Parts: sequence; structure tokens; C-alpha cells
Amino acid sequence: MTTTEEPKPSLSTTATEQFHGPEATIVDLEVNDQHYAVALEPRVSLLDALRESIGLSGTKKGCDQGTCGACTVRVDGRRVLSCLTLAMTCEGREVRTIEGLADGNELHPMQRAFLANDALQCGYCTPGQIMSAVALLDEGHAETDAEITEWMSGNICRCAAYPNIRDAIREVRDQAGGAPDAAH
Ligand code: FES
Ligand code: FES
Repeated sequence: MTTTEEPKPSLSTTATEQFHGPEATIVDLEVNDQHYAVALEPRVSLLDALRESIGLSGTKKGCDQGTCGACTVRVDGRRVLSCLTLAMTCEGREVRTIEGLADGNELHPMQRAFLANDALQCGYCTPGQIMSAVALLDEGHAETDAEITEWMSGNICRCAAYPNIRDAIREVRDQAGGAPDAAH
């Protein structure tokens, strides 16, 4: 019986051109409706690109290993941990950070609610909490306190401002005519 050898995959010029690095290469990122062309090594996280290369330091680095949620941003509307997301993978996608939430000088309702409900102490986790909270409402995961707690559980607050954070989320939810008031 004759066997035919599987052709070995070859790296054509076109294929190799799809790979970047290890040296820095230009990456086009769309952040808060603005385009940035930044030189980044492929290993650079979205968090570091935002903070170090683009100069948007509102997104915080807590653990840098995916456990605290301080670095939460939205990519194409989905919340992601920017410390675990390679910046390069965000080319052609819409990145939204805490700096892109307000409408000019008008704070986002969730930002106002955090202030009104004293939903922070040191404030370090707050940008990530707010980005998650806004996404939470869009996802429809804020019907009850238990649901809010579960779906915000990726955002750690070392100051334990959790009750006030839930108050803020409920306030925005109820202002928007969302879920029933049974959450209290
Ligand atoms: S800094 Fe990304 S999860 Fe903690
Ligand atoms: S307000 Fe201090 S960690 Fe949350």
C-alpha cells in the first residue's frame, strides 16, 4: 500500500507577513473614538498600551494577572481585562475606557451615581468598577442584588465599598426604568 505524505505547511511570504515581532511594530488602535498608531511589541498588553503608550492612565493596574478587575475596559462592547488582552488583538476593534464614558463635561449616569452614593474610598478600583457596572446594565444582569453581586464579582474592592457600589448600580438601573425594585 502506498501512502501519500501530508504536505508540510509552508510559510509563504504572505503568511510570514501576518506575524509581528518580536520587535515593536505599528499597531492601529481605536480608543474612545480616536485613532492611535503606536509602536508596540507583540507581547504588550492592552493595559500597558493604554497607560504607557497612549497616555490614558484612568484604567488601573492592580494585580496585572487577571484577578482584581481594576483594568476592566470594553472592547466591541464586551468587558475585558485589559491586563490579559494583547494590544495587537484589538486592532480593528472599538476600545472604550473610563475616559470615554463622559459626554464632554457631562458625566455618565453611572459616574454620577458612584459619586452620589459614595461608592468608593481610595478610588483605585473605581474605573474598573464603573466600566463593569455600565456593561452589567447593558447585559441585563442587574435584576437583583444577588445578580449584581455575582456579575460584579470579578471587580475586587479592597476598601469593601460593595454595598455603596450596589446602591449606585441600582440607582442607574431604576432611573433607566430597568428591573423591578425587588433588589433592595
Ligand atoms: S490588573 Fe487586570 S485583573 Fe487586576
Ligand atoms: S475604593 Fe479602594 S479599592 Fe475600591
